[in-house]
Amino acid sequence: MDYLKLKEEFKTPFYLYDFDLIKSRFLELKDVFKARKSQIFYAMKANSNLSLLQMLVRLDSGFDCVSIGEVRRALRVGAKPYKIIFSGVGKSEDELEQALKFDILYINLESEEEMLLLESVAKKLKLKARISIRVNPNVDAKTHPYISTGLNENKFGVEIDLARKMYLYAAKSAFLEPVGVHFHIGSQLLDVAPIHEAAFIVAKLLRELKALKIELKFFDVGGGLGISYEGEKEPCLYDYAQGILASLTGLDVTIGLEPGRFLVAKSGTLVCSVLYEKNTLKKRFMVVDAAMNDLIRPSLYNAYHEIVLPYAKGEPSLCDVVGGICESGDFFAKGRKLPKSERGDIVLIKEAGAYGFTMSSNYNTRPRICELAIENSVVKMVRKREKFEDLIALEEECLD
Ligand code: LLP
Repeated sequence: MDYLKLKEEFKTPFYLYDFDLIKSRFLELKDVFKARKSQIFYAMKANSNLSLLQMLVRLDSGFDCVSIGEVRRALRVGAKPYKIIFSGVGKSEDELEQALKFDILYINLESEEEMLLLESVAKKLKLKARISIRVNPNVDAKTHPYISTGLNENKFGVEIDLARKMYLYAAKSAFLEPVGVHFHIGSQLLDVAPIHEAAFIVAKLLRELKALKIELKFFDVGGGLGISYEGEKEPCLYDYAQGILASLTGLDVTIGLEPGRFLVAKSGTLVCSVLYEKNTLKKRFMVVDAAMNDLIRPSLYNAYHEIVLPYAKGEPSLCDVVGGICESGDFFAKGRKLPKSERGDIVLIKEAGAYGFTMSSNYNTRPRICELAIENSVVKMVRKREKFEDLIALEEECLD
């Protein structure tokens, strides 16, 4: 990749995504589940760029959405409503109403209160709401506490006994139709055993419900597959699938998958440039033109992202790679051995395709950076760089 040419044309910083890699990972994941009916619902919170979503629609992907805005993104790129599901612990009444009107595949319920609210909304609209319940199977995903979701102490889903009660209620309601079950125990899982454990627990519930004549069609195992950021061993896809398939004996269900990171993380690079080399009495800092507002993962989770200077030839030594924001937490790496750089040198921050741009902000009134994609060796811009005017537009409307 000729980053210098890209810099000349688009300036830094920018995100660069490899769409071909996303495609191949999508097909790889689909393939390991071929023994059964399966549907990928891409968790677009990881990266919701419209061009990326459009590419996935062409591969027949469905979408897991966590706001009505995300549902609208999916519809905007031509996804069929029956390929869209809506999850999240805090859906508003208005969002539930809109989701019903859009006639999406189903709504993942996260509490009894939400079920009752949805029932009343469906009644008002004279519709029957297709539902799935997010079960919290109380298994430890053994990942970062901020992205672990499958323990009873987490805010997500409902415990199995309550789920059973909710299904019995929903099955009798004139305005609810139970069609699926869902669990998602955490993200960046390098060991898939906890997912298998959860699958067995939830499949048992399905068998119990089946005996009560409540037959669910979708068995949604969430996302969570981890990737290697720092040379970690990635889970084997085949084993991941086999463990899930093994849990489903005697059940005729479509397996729902909600990968986010697995599909897009490796495809993305945050490309930036060195602004300054700065040495204090204690430390060497490499100040770059991207910052925590562009990629917050290191600041928020102490996450590791590999950093490469493809053209710098200087002697390597330890340094902190930092952005220009007024916070000591604004860093991409600490104590990393990197070559001495020159002003303008290209810096690549790798594995930034998931939870990079989608978690970016305008902190310090910094315009969001542009996004580029490469597909069949052609580079195209898939989101323009924001301008100062974009940032203040809504405030300007309110000026006296
Ligand atoms: N399904 C549900 C219900 C989820 O909550 C999530 C992610 C996914 C699917 C997709 O999970 P994945 O396959 O990407 O692991 N911002 C954090 C990750 C937060 C994940 C939130 N939920 C990070 O940067 O690591």
